Amino acid sequence: ADSYPNLKRDSRFKEVTADDVAFFREVLGSDNAIIDGVTKDASDDLEAFNSDWMKKYRGQCKVVLKPDTTEQVSRILKYCNENLLPVNPQGGNTGLVGGSVPVFDEVVLNLSRMNSIHSFDEVSGILVADAGVILQAADDHVAEKGYIFPLDLGAKGSCQIGGNVATNAGGLRLLRYGSMHGNILGLEAVLPDGTIVDDLCTLRKNNTGYDLKQLFIGGEGSIGIITKISILCPQRSPAVNVAYFGLSSYAKVQQAFREAKIQLSEILSAFELMDSQSQALYARASGARLPLESPHPFYCLIETSGSNTDHDSEKLTTFLEHVMGEEIVADGVVADNESQLQSLWACREGISEASQHFGGVYKYDLSIPLPDLYSLVEECRERFQSNGLMSDTDESKPVFDVVGYGHMGDSNLHLNVAVRRYEKEVEKALEPWVYEWVAQRKGSISAEHGLGLAKKEFIQYSRSETMVGLMKQLKKVYDPNGIMNPYKYI
Ligand code: FAD
Ligand code: MLT
Ligand code: ZN
Repeated sequence: ADSYPNLKRDSRFKEVTADDVAFFREVLGSDNAIIDGVTKDASDDLEAFNSDWMKKYRGQCKVVLKPDTTEQVSRILKYCNENLLPVNPQGGNTGLVGGSVPVFDEVVLNLSRMNSIHSFDEVSGILVADAGVILQAADDHVAEKGYIFPLDLGAKGSCQIGGNVATNAGGLRLLRYGSMHGNILGLEAVLPDGTIVDDLCTLRKNNTGYDLKQLFIGGEGSIGIITKISILCPQRSPAVNVAYFGLSSYAKVQQAFREAKIQLSEILSAFELMDSQSQALYARASGARLPLESPHPFYCLIETSGSNTDHDSEKLTTFLEHVMGEEIVADGVVADNESQLQSLWACREGISEASQHFGGVYKYDLSIPLPDLYSLVEECRERFQSNGLMSDTDESKPVFDVVGYGHMGDSNLHLNVAVRRYEKEVEKALEPWVYEWVAQRKGSISAEHGLGLAKKEFIQYSRSETMVGLMKQLKKVYDPNGIMNPYKYI
């Protein structure tokens, strides 16, 4: 309760008792499948499930359940629904909006033990797997057959594919492979009353009424628990190239993006943006050396993926000659082996870790029309320069740095305010200012991370009253007792 002075525990909900634990134990049938902090002290074991990746959100759950079958999930949810015990679905707990950890004493239902791959069709590229499979493991599995999982992100070593679907995660190659809304062909989910919704379709086309699975994709665990997914995986490209550029202005970044689309067209698989501050922060936190000798205000990472090495290299060389010749790009490097390719990607993927390395981070994940995208970072930096809350040397100031990066190819900016410690004053300087700024430009306050607890008060900046009303009606249909992930965005 101390963590959230503005939130009140819903008094309708029952607290977990020893009898409830006995029921859960009987359903799960294994001591490894339950962390019981009700009948004994288990605070140390519960910590990882109560605390989020940014160490910003903290719950007080006393029991973690780790079912390994859909039937167990069904029995648990039915029981929780009948007994008004709230439930927090949890995957790899890498979410960045406080949706993955409880607010008060919700039961954590963690999917980590549901981690089997059921089938992979080598002709169609369709994978059917449990929700708790780690993203990296899913990609490794399909890679053996020459395919790629159509999602990649920095947290791939710990996030789960069910969590990716529940958040409709975007990631580093959405520009090429599209979103989960398009790639997921079917899923199995359990509703709060225990109903198992078997929509584990493996068809590419299926126009038979409402596409109900879409409500679970990006639903953030608000209407049920995803237990299995079926997903279409594209062919893995044998020829992959990565280039890293320095540019002198954001105008040049836009020009480079335009040229990349024109000249690299079908082989372009990622176009990522990093400002100089984000790269300096990455270098400082990781100790790594940046790829280019002299600093530049902006950097881009371009990846191409195609089927013919000679053809792709020729295209990339022509593109590079053009952008350097026209002085769109100031300097650049192309990876000439796998380890260099990985270290160029690390300059982009390592920003998340670096952003919170010196204390904590306020993260804003925004869709903004491209011409305006970077101005927000500049305005935000000016704001902290003038309000006296930021210094990179004075330890008494809460803010350490303001950095901007993101998925340029999807008009998705990540504005990060790196702090020495979380302070209300910093949050007040940012919210609702950031959301107003974005709404004025008809952007979205959540491009890919979701709303969770972090943005629950701000949904109206991106969705009309009518739409929020419809969402609430749907929530009531699926979860009339409101036990699923309560206190969050809906
Ligand atoms: P969790 O964090 O455990 O949960 C996230 C939400 O989904 C919660 O609301 C939870 O209740 C719900 N949920 C989880 N599993 C289920 C389920 N089986 N059924 C129903 N609800 C469920 N996101 C992006 O979009 N793009 C990125 O590029 C990106 N990069 C990241 C890099 C790092 C280093 C980190 C730490 C996070 C990043 N994220 C990114 C954020 C995050 O959304 C993803 O990591 C991931 O999709 C979350 O998966 P998870 O299994 O960890 O889910
Ligand atoms: C990213 O693109 O790196 C992720 O969305 C995570 C983050 O913003 O830290
Ligand atoms: Zn991202």
